Amino acid sequence: MPDGISAVIVLLFACFRSGASYPMEFGANSAQRKCGRVHLTVSASQDTHLELNWITECPHPDNLRPDYIALYNYDLKDRNEEAPPLLRIRASDYPEGYYKSKIKFGQPWLPGNWEYRETLMRADSGPHCFPYWIASIRGSDIIDSRCLGIQPTWMNDNRLQIGTQKIGNLFIPGTHNSGAFSGVPKFLENYILNQDRSIWTQLVHGIRYLDLRIGYYEHEGFYVNHDLVRIAKAVQIFKEIRKFLQLAPKEIIVVDFHRFPYPSNFNTTLHEKFVSLVYEYLGDLALPPGGLQVGKGPTLNEIWAQSKNVIICYADKAVARENYWLWQPLQQHWANTKNVDTLKSFLSRAIKEHRVTLNPMFALMAELTPQPIDLIFRTNNLRKLANDVNRKLTKWFRDEWARDVNIVATDYFLGNDIINVAIEANVNR
Ligand SMILES: *[C@@H]1O[C@H](CO)[C@@H](O)[C@H](O)[C@H]1NC(C)=O
Repeated sequence: MPDGISAVIVLLFACFRSGASYPMEFGANSAQRKCGRVHLTVSASQDTHLELNWITECPHPDNLRPDYIALYNYDLKDRNEEAPPLLRIRASDYPEGYYKSKIKFGQPWLPGNWEYRETLMRADSGPHCFPYWIASIRGSDIIDSRCLGIQPTWMNDNRLQIGTQKIGNLFIPGTHNSGAFSGVPKFLENYILNQDRSIWTQLVHGIRYLDLRIGYYEHEGFYVNHDLVRIAKAVQIFKEIRKFLQLAPKEIIVVDFHRFPYPSNFNTTLHEKFVSLVYEYLGDLALPPGGLQVGKGPTLNEIWAQSKNVIICYADKAVARENYWLWQPLQQHWANTKNVDTLKSFLSRAIKEHRVTLNPMFALMAELTPQPIDLIFRTNNLRKLANDVNRKLTKWFRDEWARDVNIVATDYFLGNDIINVAIEANVNR
């Protein structure tokens, strides 16, 4: 509990650092949109209600626009006899191309035998669907239909198209504060948790970048923290990463030990101790940077040729230099704003102005941040802010920035379509 309170204080201070504000940008590229294309998302609110999304920009003449958007619990393409949909709405009633249903997604079992257990030895590769399909319909035609699903092996599934891509040129879907998904007092939850799925579930869905903050507690060891609040034992998270890679050995995960917030003097002794713990669990899977940290880094084919699948980035330069299997610090571009327009111009500028660092990758932190006043008045919590921006993120990264970005880390990632957007962008790059 004292941790929780001190965390709020730390947040208060962190939030005072002002987010830069840049002029708005106009004239974004207007690439071909696919009229009536659909996808499902899950609300970041506690209700986890399913959200229907469709593309509303349609070419003239306007004879492709969907009449209805519907949600089914079966794949329309698999059935002959037609059971009624779970719900159906008139597309023109929702000009934004968005409808939040009252259907709760919750925390269902992961399909394809991907539900976590320590004894799990095999799971089915390729994408898998939850029993929810969205479709856009015009007359008696299905314009588009897609399920809400997982992409546990998307790198391997698309290896022929993406193998020659360099890691610094790949669109890598990630999570911000990946470990902040549970384990804090209720009254703080909405200001501390950036996610509502475990690390395992994130990886199974297709997340490939984990942003981790580490704390050390005498007698209890290392934890994944959000600032001063501890969330989960680091070892449990390493076990999940390891288990996942055992089942999906061609997936490549970027693990970013980005900050060491507790204790405030996280000294050399603690770094040494932590590095040996990481090595014990992930050392044999770690891709040593060797001469690979130049330009945009190695291609996926080059990484696969070494049979390694974790790239471990370490925020302390000296420690990274001393351990041949650690990569140099990874730069995160963080707007620290709760304003959607400010975030957009910040990200657009970061994409244009990013300069190469010692690490060939860089991360865009595509999320809004509550400001001190919000903590005091209990407004703009992380769930609300994620709901404010997640739909927009899908559009920006799909329609404007798909070719230019590397790592994109979001909050409550099921509220956007970043995983599928990234896969599609990589296949088309
Ligand atoms: C580093 O911190 C730990 C834990 O607080 C302490 O036990 C250790 O003596 C410190 N080491 C150095 C070299 O200061």
